Amino acid sequence: MNQNISDTAEREAQIPVQEPQRQYYFMERAKEHLEEMCRAAGRRLTFCVTTFGCQMNARDSEKLVGILERVGYMEEPDEEKADFVIYNTCTVRENANQRVYGRLGQLGRNKKKNPNMMIALCGCMMQEPEVVEKLKKSYPFVDIIFGTHNIYKFAELLVSHMESERTVIDIWKDTDKIVEDLPSERKYPFKSGVNIMFGCNNFCSYCIVPYVRGRERSRDPRAIIKEIERLVSEGVVEVMLLGQNVNSYGKTLDKPMTFAQLLREIEKIDGLERIRFMTSHPKDLSDELIDVMASSGKICRHLHLPVQSGSTRILEKMNRRYTKEGYLALAERIKKAMPDISLTTDIIVGFPGETEEDFQDTLDVVRKVRYDSAFTFIYSKRTGTPAAAMPDQVPGDVVKDRFDRLLKEVQDISTQMCALHQGTVQTVLVESVNAHDPALVTGRLGNNLLVHFPGDASMIGGFFRVKLKECKGFYYIGEIAQ
Ligand code: 5AD
Ligand code: SF4
Repeated sequence: MNQNISDTAEREAQIPVQEPQRQYYFMERAKEHLEEMCRAAGRRLTFCVTTFGCQMNARDSEKLVGILERVGYMEEPDEEKADFVIYNTCTVRENANQRVYGRLGQLGRNKKKNPNMMIALCGCMMQEPEVVEKLKKSYPFVDIIFGTHNIYKFAELLVSHMESERTVIDIWKDTDKIVEDLPSERKYPFKSGVNIMFGCNNFCSYCIVPYVRGRERSRDPRAIIKEIERLVSEGVVEVMLLGQNVNSYGKTLDKPMTFAQLLREIEKIDGLERIRFMTSHPKDLSDELIDVMASSGKICRHLHLPVQSGSTRILEKMNRRYTKEGYLALAERIKKAMPDISLTTDIIVGFPGETEEDFQDTLDVVRKVRYDSAFTFIYSKRTGTPAAAMPDQVPGDVVKDRFDRLLKEVQDISTQMCALHQGTVQTVLVESVNAHDPALVTGRLGNNLLVHFPGDASMIGGFFRVKLKECKGFYYIGEIAQ
């Protein structure tokens, strides 16, 4: 046998089949290639991961960074200067896609000037076949393309590109696999996102997420607890439990458990001070969860409860499976159990067939619930979703007018809600030195409200009792309480 072939065969036989061992093997192999590339370039090569979209993507990016650092790349915050640029994309609304195409053009020009440069694209947008076709045709300089289901395989794909120098494309339609124990590099030392589930089974008629993130899968509770215990031992005091619909956690486990039961277990972890979670679907929010929250000393008094629309007629077309009255009754129950809770929401304006009367229902819900803040979105038509084929798409100027009216209402109410805390003393977890004034630090209350107050970098990650002195609409200026 030819010596090269037998060497290659021997090398391939060494590749572990089991995960995550297989990926650690490829990280080592990528490291060898990278060392060679750095020697040739005469310097250390750098990377920049740019994240679009939600907290799930932010958490995925931490995993990519963890792998890249282990391989030996150095982080470069300025995308323009980095040798390896990775875009972790979002596709929930069309404008997110346009931003990626716009920026890719610039990356292509940079690549012509830098022979060491590589570009990888991953995340939700890559799960759409039309996107990958367009990339192949119009952006052939992209080196690696992968999706949401095989992000754990990043090291393996990287090696495949390094060894073939060809574009590597690997997109899976769906998966039931969850790979544990890969490296990840946290953005903050004191707080962390923790995935508790992946995917979504709800199929809201406007939403592309179930198509790009696949079917709902819950992580084993023991793996979640183990991860949080490890994070706490590393100094984390606050976790954000992440899932598209955390209220249906556990339904698909071999031994089913509820989200409320999971919270009870997490609450027991010594040293963990704050627990947050995102996102809750109103149809699955149980009284058991309200009880657990109300009696907890660690679960933050904040609930993000997307309403999407206040009109029962539109909610039905959205396939949300609750009514205006049902949502309002739920909000009431939550407020009764926790009068100090902060409620936030997502609202879509201009869903197909939305009339002025439907929109008035949305305004009515906003006025009744009085959200502490709300994310407002203009409906975006996503190819392949049922809503994209619905008649009566609302004209742009009508949507814009409604959007502006909704925004004003939401902002007026959230300013009033913010002002309610004036003069109180509350606990703040300090997150950073203030970006505009280095004499101030910035932190968050349990209810997620931002507070700036005099301090320095040594306070980051610490809890402080702060008097809220001056309300600035959606944040406070405070001072340490005497
Ligand atoms: N158009 C506008 N907004 C959307 N969202 C999801 N899909 C769309 C769409 N097609 C919003 C919803 C969701 C948030 C994450 O994004 O409000 O809660
Ligand atoms: Fe999209 Fe609805 Fe699933 Fe949220 S619950 S990710 S809006 S389909």
